[in-house]
Amino acid sequence: MRAEVGLMLGPSLGINYSPRSPPNAKVKERSVIHDCVSQFLNETEREREMLYIIGLGLGDEQDITLRGLEAVKKCDKVYVEAYTSLLSFGLSTHALEKLYGKPITVADREMVEEKADAILSHSLSSDVAFLVVGDPFGATTHTDLVVRAKKLGVNVKVVHNASVMNAIGICGLQLYRYGETISIPFFTQSWRPYSFYDKILNNRSLALHTLCLLDIRVKEPSLESLCRGRKQYEPPRYMTINTAIEQLLEVEQMRGGKAYNEDTCCVGLARLGSDDQKIVAGTMRQLRVVDFGAPLHCLVIVGKENMLELVVRKLDATRGICARAPIHDTVLHLSFMSVPCLMMLKYLTSNLLLNAKELIHVI
Ligand SMILES: C[S@@+](CC[C@H](N)C(=O)[O-])C[C@H]1O[C@@H](n2cnc3c(N)ncnc32)[C@H](O)[C@@H]1O
Repeated sequence: MRAEVGLMLGPSLGINYSPRSPPNAKVKERSVIHDCVSQFLNETEREREMLYIIGLGLGDEQDITLRGLEAVKKCDKVYVEAYTSLLSFGLSTHALEKLYGKPITVADREMVEEKADAILSHSLSSDVAFLVVGDPFGATTHTDLVVRAKKLGVNVKVVHNASVMNAIGICGLQLYRYGETISIPFFTQSWRPYSFYDKILNNRSLALHTLCLLDIRVKEPSLESLCRGRKQYEPPRYMTINTAIEQLLEVEQMRGGKAYNEDTCCVGLARLGSDDQKIVAGTMRQLRVVDFGAPLHCLVIVGKENMLELVVRKLDATRGICARAPIHDTVLHLSFMSVPCLMMLKYLTSNLLLNAKELIHVI
């Protein structure tokens, strides 16, 4: 490679290789080129300080990728972003510190949004890791941090990981049949935004599924404390599937666009990626009263299921992945079961190695 670079650099340095050059001149030329090439390679090959933005995955500290772990190990400073998502053990950094063998700074929204320069200035002189639960660009964009880093001349490397955006695939609804994802914020007495409704309406009119991400409020200053001019923080809150459904039904009542109703089929998913994840399919009325347990929760409003999705969901129900499937759906769809559908069931039994007992459960 050094020889190739030398040939490339020679002319640009004003040095021409000529078979007729005298031997001494040739030696001198070679040494100038050698120095320039070494300098060039030293600069490009040198490991430069880096800001690593690393996805942690969804379950616990073990879900970091090998590439991510290697990066963390060589960093002098490690931050964990703690306001857009949550690992199964909550906000505690103890497990992460034990695995990485170094202290971790919890970066709240204020730190990331208002004091990012402190994180970035460290990255100019040493390697820094910025950890994000899930994937750094899955439903949370840390693009702002990347743009600011680039402006300051900080090198950035991203290490991806699993995200809620793809983990929802486990419920059997195909990822490419989802429309726009929505976020449902906690309603307050004076703030009840309905803007997500039109997106659901649009998705449903196109027969697409809607992933609803539910609000997280961590280290939010209380309104009263802001009025008093002295910040005091509210305890953390994570929206449950039950609250999300209450709010969705309120919005439907107010807007009346018939985007969905209490009988609309949904899937509730809690703590995806952890050992005690819970996934339940049912109507809004049914899911409204299910206890999904600890956070985090999200909800899928089902569009129009195709036959494969339907069969997979029913199978999941029998295997306990989706705890419950709405009975009326099964009856409705199976009464329309035609020859192609039966052929597909045959395909499933032969290719997915389902046994006859499971198939009977589905039917
Ligand atoms: C703003 S998104 C952050 C996504 C994250 N960066 C990722 O790639 O997964 C956070 C929301 O996604 C949903 N969510 C994230 N992780 C989840 C999990 N493990 N189980 C269920 N829902 C989850 C919750 O509704 C949560 O409020």
